[in-house]
Order: sequence, then C-alpha cells, then structure tokens
Amino acid sequence: MSDYLANLFSLAGRTAVVTGASRGIGAALAKALCGAGASVTGLGRSAAPAESVPGVSYLACDIRDADAFEQACEQVFQSEGRLDILVNAAGITLPQDADSDSFRVFDETLAVNLTAAYRCCEIASGCMKRNGGGAIINVTSIGAALGFPGNPGYVAAKGGLAALTRALALDLASHNIRVNNLAPGYIRTAMTEGSYANPARHAARLERMMIKRWGMPEDLAGAAIFLASDASAYVTGTDVFVDGGWTAKGL
Ligand SMILES: NC(=O)c1ccc[n+]([C@@H]2O[C@H](COP(=O)([O-])OP(=O)(O)OC[C@H]3O[C@@H](n4cnc5c(N)ncnc54)[C@H](OP(=O)(O)O)[C@@H]3O)[C@@H](O)[C@H]2O)c1
Repeated sequence: MSDYLANLFSLAGRTAVVTGASRGIGAALAKALCGAGASVTGLGRSAAPAESVPGVSYLACDIRDADAFEQACEQVFQSEGRLDILVNAAGITLPQDADSDSFRVFDETLAVNLTAAYRCCEIASGCMKRNGGGAIINVTSIGAALGFPGNPGYVAAKGGLAALTRALALDLASHNIRVNNLAPGYIRTAMTEGSYANPARHAARLERMMIKRWGMPEDLAGAAIFLASDASAYVTGTDVFVDGGWTAKGL
C-alpha cells in the first residue's frame, strides 16, 4: 500500500471509545478501528465481552448511566492523553407483540438508542474539545430513513439519532469535531438472528437488497475507518448507508 493511502486512512496515535463493542456490529467496528491503528476501548454492560477482539481493551458501562460513561471516557483520556473517536454502536430492539406494553417498549428503546447516545456524544465531545477535535460515528439504521412495521420505538429512535447527528455536527464543527451516521441495512448479528433463521422473513429481506446477501458486521469496517479518519476530513452531518442497496431500490 502506498504511504499516501496508508496515511489517509491511518488511525495511528488516535484513541477511540466504542459502545456496544461486546458483540456484533460494535465488535466488528472496534476491530476495524484497532486494525487501522487506533487504541480502542470497547464498552458493554459486562467487562467480559461475548466477542473479545485482540488488542481492544474493555470496560463495563451501561450507557444509560451517564456518570458511568463519563468515568469510562475520563479513564481513557487520563491513560491515553486524548480521546479522538466515539462510535455509538450500542442499541436494542425489544420484542413487541399484542401483550407488550407499547409505551414501555417505546420509552425503553428511546432511552438506550437515542437519549443515552446523545449523552455519550455530549460527554465524549467534551473530551475531544480538550485535544482539539475528533470524530463521532452514530450507528443508525435504514429504519432512520424508512418505515418498518411493528417497531415504532426503534424507527423513531434511529430517525431521531440521525437528526441528532446533523444538529451536533453543526454545534461541534467549530471545535473540529465531525459527526456522521453509519446506517447499516440487515446485518447478521444476535439482533437479527430471528429473522435470519426464519425462511420467509429471510427471503423477504433478501428481496429488498440489490446485493443478494445479508450483510456481515465486517461489511461496515471500511465505512467506519473512512468516517473516523482524515479520509473524511470534509465530511460531517451526513449518512453513509451500508445496506446492500436497500434504501436505493425501487422495484
Ligand atoms: N444487525 C442489524 O441488522 C442492524 C441494522 C441496523 C442497525 N443496527 C444497529 O447496530 C448496533 C449494533 O447492533 P447489533 O446488531 O450488533 O446488535 P447486538 O448484537 O444485539 O449488540 C448490541 C450491543 O449493544 C450493547 N448494549 C445494549 N444495551 C446497552 C446498554 N444499556 N449499555 C451498554 N451497551 C448496551 C450490547 O452490549 P451488552 O448486551 O453486552 O451489554 C451489545 O454490545 C445497534 O445500534 C443496532 O440498532 C443493527
């Protein structure tokens, strides 16, 4: 690889915090940033992640607890001397059937996928201001742009997160902090395993994709390195869809 290319995408000397790093997409993004040279701390509710990535350090942090997230960021800042990158990958989708309390499901979904993500942006950007800038990547969804049935809290939270990104990109631009959305399509993880394993639901989703396979968490690696690195130095407040063409497909 040429020096030019390596430098453009290098994260050497940068420090990253990845929420939801214990498995699935967050684990793959932690691995990607680590592979590009960043020092990465992964957060999950347990300090012992289901999918441990060599080279990544782990801290236990429930992101609904803003004090705990602030402590985690401070710990990283004190030991590394800086915080350059936040990836908000933690997220939930709760089962909602006829017996569910739909108001409770809505509130709990927004508490993790939107409110906690906002607080993480505010707290991490406070650290980034101290080292002169940074990059925030919010993991949204094709559900941020499109309607999906039976899960209004998830769709509202991801749509809200996408809008929040635009607002924060504006507020933080003067601090040299870029904020962007990474919007996955259907990616095979624990979150989607039920649909993946159900032949009818699997096929219905495949039908929506231009690229005729479900995404894998690793498919998001390149876009995450792009958004975290100097390769995207003039990119802020926007969405990068990694969805096999889902959002662009008509018939
Ligand atoms: N898979 C897809 O097709 C897809 C598509 C679009 C968007 N997304 C989004 O991508 C992100 C990752 O999804 P995934 O598919 O990798 O799901 P996953 O396998 O269920 O992983 C979810 C992650 O979020 C963490 N998490 C959940 N609640 C948390 C909390 N209160 N505090 C801290 N961490 C918490 C989990 O950590 P612990 O349980 O270990 O604490 C886990 O690391 C989510 O934001 C999801 O909405 C996924």
